[in-house]
Amino acid sequence: MQVNCLDYQIHIGTKVDIDLSSYGTKFLVLMDTNTERLFGDYFPDYPRIVVEAGEASKSMETYDHVLTEALKHGLDRQSCIVALGGGVVGDLAGFVAGTYMRGIKFIQVPTTLLAQVDSSVGGKTGINLGNTKNIVGVFHQPAAVYCDTSFLAHLPEKEIRSGLGEVIKYGCIKDPELFSYLEEHIEQIVALNPEHMQHIVQRSCEIKAAVVQQDEKESDYRRILNFGHTIGHAVEVHSTLTHGESIALGMVLEAQLSHTLGVCDEETVDRITKLLQAYGFTTQLPDIPKEQLLEKIKTDKKTIAGKTHYVLLEAIGNVRIQPVTEAQLNEVLCNLP
Ligand SMILES: NC(=O)c1ccc[n+]([C@@H]2O[C@H](COP(=O)([O-])OP(=O)(O)OC[C@H]3O[C@@H](n4cnc5c(N)ncnc54)[C@H](O)[C@@H]3O)[C@@H](O)[C@H]2O)c1
Ligand SMILES: [Zn+2]
Repeated sequence: MQVNCLDYQIHIGTKVDIDLSSYGTKFLVLMDTNTERLFGDYFPDYPRIVVEAGEASKSMETYDHVLTEALKHGLDRQSCIVALGGGVVGDLAGFVAGTYMRGIKFIQVPTTLLAQVDSSVGGKTGINLGNTKNIVGVFHQPAAVYCDTSFLAHLPEKEIRSGLGEVIKYGCIKDPELFSYLEEHIEQIVALNPEHMQHIVQRSCEIKAAVVQQDEKESDYRRILNFGHTIGHAVEVHSTLTHGESIALGMVLEAQLSHTLGVCDEETVDRITKLLQAYGFTTQLPDIPKEQLLEKIKTDKKTIAGKTHYVLLEAIGNVRIQPVTEAQLNEVLCNLP
């Protein structure tokens, strides 16, 4: 099956047929040490660059290394970079492709659930600077995305859960039917049933593509994708939870915030909490001092003129963006069970 996003297609299936030849004359496949071990032979005919697995590879040093390799391999403006890996490889490959010779083509072949439902779609690319995440980057759309859900069979449970956090987010912000589907098919989804995985990847890509098409460069509307992320990011920096686990907790807290402000009812908060728990997410805040959380939220880049704008939940499938004061946020954090 296929989903359209801007001027490219996202292909979803198992054993997706990928014919690279229409995308360029020369290719370089970027992978990390894990995706090389597992899927290194996926593109047997093309040269590869392997970076260390992990977030540390989204660095200036690795960016420099990949650019240097691209030059050594003689990549030119007709060449194409292929990202075979999770969000780390995708963000790095996209940033290299977006800046090498002022921008060449790249193709996303995402191998984690998070990358299939989120990072490979939408064209945000970039690297970290020290501890500051994603602070250097460009918008550069891929020429195509190929989501092969059979890759997911090798993913550790924690990484699957991380991607599921984003899938649940799409249900919350845009799609009550997806939300119900996630409630009704827990067993099949946890068992990575191909039909169910393809369905949730497809719906997630459709929703993200629709949002990105309305607001490619995140001027306003695209911010609805940040539901759970304002508090979630602060949790992520101060805990050992994965991105998806942190935003899951962020969604619970931001839903509670919405309820405290009279924007949604209590049943909505309960439904989200129960669904996340059913997929094994922690919905209790780990032992992080509230001041540290508040401080991080305040310095978050989404703060505009001293007020933090939150994506608030009106009901499952409906959100609005609204400024929230520190006092209102404090009230929610201090009244946690
Ligand atoms: N560009 C965007 O819009 C966007 C959106 C969300 C997240 N991100 C970025 O994505 C990154 C996180 O992505 P991620 O969660 O995919 O992390 P990741 O790329 O680090 O992958 C997680 C781990 O799984 C391994 N792996 C990859 N595929 C595998 C497979 N099929 N089987 C077994 N192991 C596999 C990787 O080697 C790594 O160890 C972060 O850097 C984040 O900032 C970007
Ligand atoms: Zn996210």
